[in-house]
Amino acid sequence: MKTYRIGALGGDGIGPEVTVEGLKVLRAIAERAGFGVEVTDYPFGAEYHLEHKELIPDAAFSEMKDLDAILMGAIGDPRFEPGFLEFGIVGRLRFDLDLYVNLRPIRLYAESLCPLKGKKPEDLDLLVVRENTEDAYRGRTIKEDNRVIQEMVYTHAGTERIIRYAYERAMTRPGKKLTLVDKANAIRAHDLYRKTFERVGEEYPDIRKDYAYIDAACMWLIKNPESFDTVVTTNMFGDILTDLGAALQGGLGVAAGGNIHPGKVSVFEPIHGSAPKYKGQKKANPIATILAAGMMLDHLGETESANRVEEAVIRVLPKLPSLGTDSGVPTDRIGDMVVEELAAG
Ligand code: IPM
Ligand code: MG
Repeated sequence: MKTYRIGALGGDGIGPEVTVEGLKVLRAIAERAGFGVEVTDYPFGAEYHLEHKELIPDAAFSEMKDLDAILMGAIGDPRFEPGFLEFGIVGRLRFDLDLYVNLRPIRLYAESLCPLKGKKPEDLDLLVVRENTEDAYRGRTIKEDNRVIQEMVYTHAGTERIIRYAYERAMTRPGKKLTLVDKANAIRAHDLYRKTFERVGEEYPDIRKDYAYIDAACMWLIKNPESFDTVVTTNMFGDILTDLGAALQGGLGVAAGGNIHPGKVSVFEPIHGSAPKYKGQKKANPIATILAAGMMLDHLGETESANRVEEAVIRVLPKLPSLGTDSGVPTDRIGDMVVEELAAG
């Protein structure tokens, strides 16, 4: 029997409780599909740092490199400066594991979830391919007397690999369209994205190419979400655009993403944060984490199981009074409902 070695990094706030539900669903589908999952728990986050003065110990980090995949809850705690835990844990994983793709599907599962008037599931179904290892996230911060300078770094190799990945993804989707989202009219460095998009695009004659500046892309995503199919964008713009996308698909309670290096250990997570004030109250919605576990299955090559998880979630959604925190249905009950749907389907 094939057994996958999975790391579970629950993290802070509501992270651990939603991760438990993601793992519950993972184990249930594994049992049905006939593969094994061996889970190693990693207790890193705010509490761990307060106690041990460490973010991710090196020994644990090298162990993580050999796993098949990692399911992460959420990182962030108000007792620390903004960015300290995020860069120390999320950033460390993304950068040091070279997880250069942040894959964020934006899919409307039911018309009632969308805050836009008259938009149906077929109108909001796009795949955002966010670059995940460069941009302002990797540039130096230079503090001078009267100003602070933040660099944005885009390497030729980094730009090419994300654009190529996006073209490959676009080829697998029925729309066969790829939109480059940048800000080449104001950020001159984005010229590299334009040129690379065109050059690599010559190898993909079947893909329709489109361009949108990030400001216009935000507007179009609200006015005409159906005009997007696959989107490729820089790290920071991908960060912003996918929160907007999450709101359109029903909120952060349903938005999942994967930090991916094809063929290597990759990290799957809900897009939402750690919501510290709800910690331990079983009020968090674990659906995004369950969908992240589904994306993990897809990455592992268990496509059939990945689809079944997504289908089970689609059947559970209408049974939830709301998708935000405190929907009235406890976190663990929602996980059970997905497992019951898996058993029924
Ligand atoms: C995300 C988050 C992170 C990011 C934060 C926590 C650094 O917003 O995963 O989208 O900006 O990438
Ligand atoms: Mg974000």
